[in-house]
Amino acid sequence: MEGGAALYDAVLDRAGIGSGTTVLDLGCGSGAFAAAAVASGAVVTGIDVDRSAVAAAAELVPSATFRVGDAHDPPPGPFEVVTAVQLLAHVTNPVLVLRRAAAVGGLVVATVWGRESESDVRAFGEALAPWVPPARSAGGPPPVTEPARLVKLAGLAGLVDATIDEVPCPFTYPDADALLADALASGIGRRAVAAAGAKAVRNAVLTRLEGNRTPAGAYQLANLFRVLVARGRP
Ligand SMILES: C[S@@+](CC[C@H](N)C(=O)[O-])C[C@H]1O[C@@H](n2cnc3c(N)ncnc32)[C@H](O)[C@@H]1O
Repeated sequence: MEGGAALYDAVLDRAGIGSGTTVLDLGCGSGAFAAAAVASGAVVTGIDVDRSAVAAAAELVPSATFRVGDAHDPPPGPFEVVTAVQLLAHVTNPVLVLRRAAAVGGLVVATVWGRESESDVRAFGEALAPWVPPARSAGGPPPVTEPARLVKLAGLAGLVDATIDEVPCPFTYPDADALLADALASGIGRRAVAAAGAKAVRNAVLTRLEGNRTPAGAYQLANLFRVLVARGRP
């Protein structure tokens, strides 16, 4: 994840991950967090439903174990720590994922984005809204970005002693090209380019983010994440 180092450091710190800690990383993606955990001395198993991400993770972190797998059905472990870094918003049943994590892990650590209003990356969506309108909320429960919702999900999953920390996580892009590469590579970025062409999208993004531009031409986006830490298996 772009700019994820501060978030990964927060997870390692809150989870007390160090030499020999056994970690199950749910939704490991291409292994960036696993790499940070291994660098801290952890023994890491990562699972993800995306086969190509798992292959990339195995290449990035040869000393860890990766396999294609669903976070709703994790390996039995047990593990000292189960992490779910930026996963919960993507799964069908976050309570089940947390419950299963609690069954195989002593400590469960899950991260989520802050509320939309708390992060500058919302500017990407705002810039692209003329071509890719924001998804309408279909009602239902609040999103996992709401801290009270996250605590409730943890309780429903049987996790105990839940705490939530806020983690500021700035994204810095050295120049407009780096900023645009990220914006245009996202799902909505690709759809906007298909609808309007790269030039129009480029102009819209740079205009919207003019206020985030430094005198040297870099772009700084202030973002907020939350980290849930709770105890699982007794
Ligand atoms: C936003 S990415 C986060 C990746 C990684 N944890 C990171 O921080 O870079 C979400 C990941 O969750 C994976 N994912 C989505 N649903 C999943 C599920 N049910 N079980 C396991 N992985 C899942 C996706 O394939 C994707 O790699």
